[in-house]
Amino acid sequence: MNAASTYRIAPSILSADFARLGEEVRAVLAAGADWIHFDVMDNHYVPNLTFGPMVCEALRAHAVRPDGSRAPIDVHLMVQPVDALASAFAKAGADLISFHPDASTHVDRTLQLIRAEGCKAGLVFNPAMPLDVLEWVIDKVDLVLIMSVNPGFGGQSFIGSALGKVAQARRLIDAERQRSGRDIALQVDGGIKVDNIQAVAKAGADTFVAGSAIFGQKDYASVIAAMRHQLAQV
Ligand code: DX5
Ligand code: ZN
Repeated sequence: MNAASTYRIAPSILSADFARLGEEVRAVLAAGADWIHFDVMDNHYVPNLTFGPMVCEALRAHAVRPDGSRAPIDVHLMVQPVDALASAFAKAGADLISFHPDASTHVDRTLQLIRAEGCKAGLVFNPAMPLDVLEWVIDKVDLVLIMSVNPGFGGQSFIGSALGKVAQARRLIDAERQRSGRDIALQVDGGIKVDNIQAVAKAGADTFVAGSAIFGQKDYASVIAAMRHQLAQV
């Protein structure tokens, strides 16, 4: 159902060189990336600590393609509580903000807050988390993110059960499109490589986060091209 051109590749800068983040963002966009995935970890919801809104704000000016067009900053919040940081990231130049429903006391309110700030709102589902909550709030969701690793670290192995959950999310998203005409992105995050991206796309995903697969190689453009080659055959 997807043309290759509708697929999006969102490199996670969690695996980039933190001493040169601005350059890394520019380099990966020059290499053909679509979005910049920005993993926010708080050492509370997940056992790791990364970066906050000030770093996002500093990178906003670097999130541009070689032709000067703006590239979306896709903020994945692995924090608890959610609301105050979601607002701070909206003000820091985020375009999409996703959070884990189990980290927010009032999921519907958090979705409304993110959209009121002018950003697209996403819900993230951990490997053991059912999609049930989507039934009640899908009209306020712009992106569904299926985790294919447990959140907290880059470089982990893809958990196969995510494929079934992607297919289930695809059915819910297609039903919502039928109902409202609205398109919702279906993103997968964790352990995505050149050799499994095609299977994930076949399950129904359209947006792919990849950290170590891209930043672990010298030539970002050749990894992204190899991923697009795989996607072109779906
Ligand atoms: C994990 C993060 C992912 C991670 C992906 O908590 O949400 O975005 O950086 O990294 P790889 O592609 O290396 O699994
Ligand atoms: Zn992520």
